[in-house]
Amino acid sequence: MIYTYRTNIYKIHDYSRHLKNLTDDDKISRFGYLITDYMIDKLILDMCYHPSEHELWYARTDDTRVGWGHLARNPDNSWELAVSVDRDHQRQGIGNKLISEMLEFAKFHHISEIYMHCIEDNRVIQHLASKHELKTRERGAGERTAALEVPEPTFIEANKQLWKEQTEILKEMGKLRNRLTNLWTNPMLPK
Ligand SMILES: CC(C)(COP(=O)(O)OP(=O)(O)OC[C@H]1O[C@@H](n2cnc3c(N)ncnc32)[C@H](O)[C@@H]1OP(=O)(O)O)[C@@H](O)C(=O)NCCC(=O)NCCS
Repeated sequence: MIYTYRTNIYKIHDYSRHLKNLTDDDKISRFGYLITDYMIDKLILDMCYHPSEHELWYARTDDTRVGWGHLARNPDNSWELAVSVDRDHQRQGIGNKLISEMLEFAKFHHISEIYMHCIEDNRVIQHLASKHELKTRERGAGERTAALEVPEPTFIEANKQLWKEQTEILKEMGKLRNRLTNLWTNPMLPK
């Protein structure tokens, strides 16, 4: 079973490890060139400095995280979508599920334009792009851009996303309540 979650900066070390562990071919497909660990560290540092410009999702099996989705905001307010799945877990519907989650989030949060860079011979991502109605166009030098003007969510999509985000917030509130309980039940008060 595959589960997907939106996450925050606290899991960023796992995202970094995932990117560094991609095969060379997958790094080229994901970034358009063979990115080094140093460049990945720079990307991660930029995410730490500008957390509000980045949204992250991960997919996990029962015991391990196996794929990541990333939306990054540009200065012109368009967002770049990127996705990557561990080699051993590809072709199991995970990339597709992550893209669906990201697009649902985008619709609900009034993100109006999303695009993704695809290298020319990456047929899988081009297939997924067109499956999600991102229109691809050539950019030359073996690259394509797949872009989508994000439509308004349907009533059902909006409610689904509302419910999902409300559940996330209630989970966070549960954690805070536990902290508060611990604070009052295990105090180190002066005698
Ligand atoms: C691209 C990537 C994220 C896809 O993830 P995935 O989990 O393997 O993809 P899925 O299993 O969800 O979907 C694969 C789809 O491609 C189709 N496919 C498989 N091989 C194909 C091929 N040679 N040509 C066209 N379509 C193909 C599958 O049939 C499936 O489509 P379907 O759901 O309509 O049946 C993954 O391959 C990856 O991490 N690649 C390296 C990083 C990358 O390229 N990222 C994209 C650029 S940001």
